[in-house]
Amino acid sequence: MIERAHPFLDGKPKRMLIGGHWVDALSGETFDSVNPATGKVIAQLAEGEAEDVDRAVAAARTAFEGPWGRFKPFDRQALMLNIADTLERRFDDLCVLETLDMGAPIARTSTYKRWIVQALRFYAGQAVALAGTTPHNSFPGDMFSYTLRAPLGVVGGIIPWNGPLISQLWSVCPTLATGCTLVLKPAEDASLGVLRFAEIMQEAGLPDGVVNIVTGRGSTAGARLAAHPDVDKIAFTGSTATGRRIIEASAGNMKRVAVELGGKSPDIIFADADLERAVPGAGMGCFNNSGQICYAGTRVFVQRPIYDEFVERLAAFSKTIKVGDSLDPATQLGPLVSSRQLSTVTNYFDIARAEGATVASGGERLGGDLAEGFFVPPTVLSGMTNDMRTAREEIFGPVASVIAFDTEEEAIRLGNDTQYGLGGAVWTRDVGTAHRVARDVRAGMMWVNCYGTTESTVQSEGLGMSGYGVKGGQRHVEEYLYSKTVWMNLA
Ligand code: NAI
Ligand code: MG
Repeated sequence: MIERAHPFLDGKPKRMLIGGHWVDALSGETFDSVNPATGKVIAQLAEGEAEDVDRAVAAARTAFEGPWGRFKPFDRQALMLNIADTLERRFDDLCVLETLDMGAPIARTSTYKRWIVQALRFYAGQAVALAGTTPHNSFPGDMFSYTLRAPLGVVGGIIPWNGPLISQLWSVCPTLATGCTLVLKPAEDASLGVLRFAEIMQEAGLPDGVVNIVTGRGSTAGARLAAHPDVDKIAFTGSTATGRRIIEASAGNMKRVAVELGGKSPDIIFADADLERAVPGAGMGCFNNSGQICYAGTRVFVQRPIYDEFVERLAAFSKTIKVGDSLDPATQLGPLVSSRQLSTVTNYFDIARAEGATVASGGERLGGDLAEGFFVPPTVLSGMTNDMRTAREEIFGPVASVIAFDTEEEAIRLGNDTQYGLGGAVWTRDVGTAHRVARDVRAGMMWVNCYGTTESTVQSEGLGMSGYGVKGGQRHVEEYLYSKTVWMNLA
């Protein structure tokens, strides 16, 4: 049993990090953490509640007002570079833990190393690049005006389970770069990697209270963090429904909010596309991480002359994808994260059939050797229209709805006929088509002849019900600062 062999899974309940100390919940309660590949419990997590969040926020406030506030930009940079170096040495166990915790295959989680190290190094660079401005003014007399940038204060990070080692970076990195402090609440279904990452940060010299981790339920710990009167900003990634609750809860003390929410992204394939690339590209653009990616290309629009051929090839491609043991390096797709997510996705299989879609491949839970885990195959639905529920609602499973279109204008209109606006792609050999579609689809991020590339240096943001707030790039760092204007009478 590999789980037994993992050094972090030592059978002791996992504690929370508050003020530099690993502590139990004040109530003493714990809850189970499950490996979705086996359905088995692999650890107990402390069940943090409102009172634990209060402790963590107080620790974050103390740290913000304490020695951390005297860290110079180059000190914060040095800390972040040290975390990157330490992470590089500790990574091999960490990606196995992430795989056991949330199911993504080792072939995927092992690629996080480059991604995480680069993010830490990019934001470490940002730490020494913060600057105000000196706007000229024409006020009578002799007046000088300038702006200062200062850290907002205590940030609450609330993240989902679909890739916590990556999601946490979107609050950890800008927090450390700017001199804010953080209370991070990982998702119930996948907290272990985040706890281990915090140990690595401590090993690299993270000062007490700068990053605090509270494990627990969204309805208790998460809700308290979102509403807390002493939290200055919430950075949330997750469902649109919960995002709305976060925004409502933030109103109490007017905290700043960034919400990165769901998607139903269009992936538009023209008849002139190179299908050798477009078929696997659109396939993995939807199926990667078992479809549990916010910007997944789940609505695949295909121009009518190649529609039947494309469906056939996509279905054939999906059958070549290796689904199974997440620890086997050859595995491409692991299980869904939880039994709850499994029932959500299999319920959509039923909805799609009832709506009259044709199941070209997949469409049933996997049994046999995989019956104990939460596995579904990549699924291709054809004969779909954009008004079916399967094409409108976020499924968060490996389910591609393939929809026919005739003209470029129609593809853009259908692509934009959604409440979301997160991502999308276009596949064509025509440079004009590529530019027009990339420009006219209303989404925060578009890919041309590829799908799903992301890097911390390159910003992304959503539109509509996909939320708002920047992730990545320099503007992201600015969202952790406030700007103060100073007027000075020089006369
Ligand atoms: P969720 O949005 O409820 O959970 C995300 C995080 O928010 C978790 O840490 C959770 O504990 C916390 N949370 C839940 N309720 C809260 C509240 N009232 N106040 C503060 N924090 C709260 O997502 P869930 O229920 O795990 O997944 C449901 C669906 O959401 C999925 O099927 C998928 O469609 C979508 N989703 C989208 C994600 C994205 O990246 N866009 C990520 C995860 C889920
Ligand atoms: Mg789990």
